[in-house]
This record gives sequence, structure tokens and C-alpha cells, in this order.
Amino acid sequence: MDAGTIQSFDPSADGESFRGALGAFVTGVTVVTTDSPEGPVAIVANSFASVSLEPPLVLWSPAKASKRFEHFAGSRRFAIHVLGADQRDLCAAVVKSKTAINDFPTTSSHCGMPLIQGALATFECNLEATHDAGDHVIIVGRVTKAHHQPGDPLVFHGGKYGSFHQD
Ligand SMILES: Cc1cc2nc3c(=O)[nH]c(=O)nc-3n(C[C@H](O)[C@H](O)[C@H](O)COP(=O)(O)O)c2cc1C
Repeated sequence: MDAGTIQSFDPSADGESFRGALGAFVTGVTVVTTDSPEGPVAIVANSFASVSLEPPLVLWSPAKASKRFEHFAGSRRFAIHVLGADQRDLCAAVVKSKTAINDFPTTSSHCGMPLIQGALATFECNLEATHDAGDHVIIVGRVTKAHHQPGDPLVFHGGKYGSFHQD
């Protein structure tokens, strides 16, 4: 779309344009991990958002159509990792395979959650609530432990990855 051109549409009738408009919103990129009968599994998600400071709540939303949906919708515990700009390879690998985190350095939390090393922030969560939301489910997590280190984040905009460096 050319600069200065405003496109208006009905999002129910034009899903592609709706997706494009949503992509105007710059997000970070997270990897959500949980344990499963198949071992540690992960999914890339940019639907992460902070919700509440007191109590400490965050959310993300898995798509019902995802092959990984059952792992995450049924999970009582999970960990959300905010990726750094240097974790693009990990991100690409997890998009391809739910078990790809096994090829990267991880540790296990005190309650057995797979934790990815090197993330800018990690939120260990207990499931607080789920809300049905169209073709997604909103998962609200209560953060039981958080980890944070400085660094440039991996960002996502218009379907493309980039990085953000503070002046
Ligand atoms: C940057 C980015 C953000 C994504 N965010 C989400 C998300 O919030 N929720 C979701 O269910 N899938 C999201 N996806 C898609 C999942 O990562 C998806 O699982 C993956 O593409 C593989 O599909 P599968 O789960 O059916 O195997 C995102 C993908 C990318 C590349």
C-alpha cells in the first residue's frame, strides 16, 4: 500500500486486509513453553500483553487451529519468554517445530517448566483464567516468578522481524 493511501474495509469480509492492519501494531516476540507427555514444547506468540501488577497477571492467546493448541490450552503452568534480537534463530526454529527448544540451552524451573536461556524476560506462570475469544482463547497467567536482563528486543511489524535499539 502506498504512503498516504487509506484503505477502509469490513474485517469480516476482507481477512487479508484486516491481518495487514493488525500488522501495523509493533510487537515484541515471545516463546511460550510448557511441559507435555512429549517433553518440553513451545510456540511463538506475539499476543502477549501485561494485564495487572497486583496481582501480577499477563496474557497471551493461542489459536484454536494450532496443532499445538491442546498442549497450551490444557496446561496449568507455562513460561513466557520475551526474545532478544539475537534469538531470531531460536524463534524461526520454534515456528517450524514445537520441540525445537530441545536444541537450544534450557533449564528447568523448580516446578519443571522448560526455561529458555538468554531471553530478555521470562515469566513463570500458573494458569489464572481462560476466556473463549473467537478463533483464539485468551490465557491469563499469574506470574509466580520473573527474570529480567537488559538487551535489545526482537520486534515484529508487518509480518517482518526487526530489532529496536534505544538511543
Ligand atoms: C511472530 C509470530 C507471532 C505469532 N503469534 C502467535 C500467537 O500469538 N498465537 C498463536 O496461536 N500463534 C501465533 N503464531 C503462530 C504460531 O507460532 C504457530 O504455532 C506456528 O506458526 C506453527 O503452527 P502450528 O502451531 O499449527 O504447528 C505466531 C507466529 C509468529 C511468526
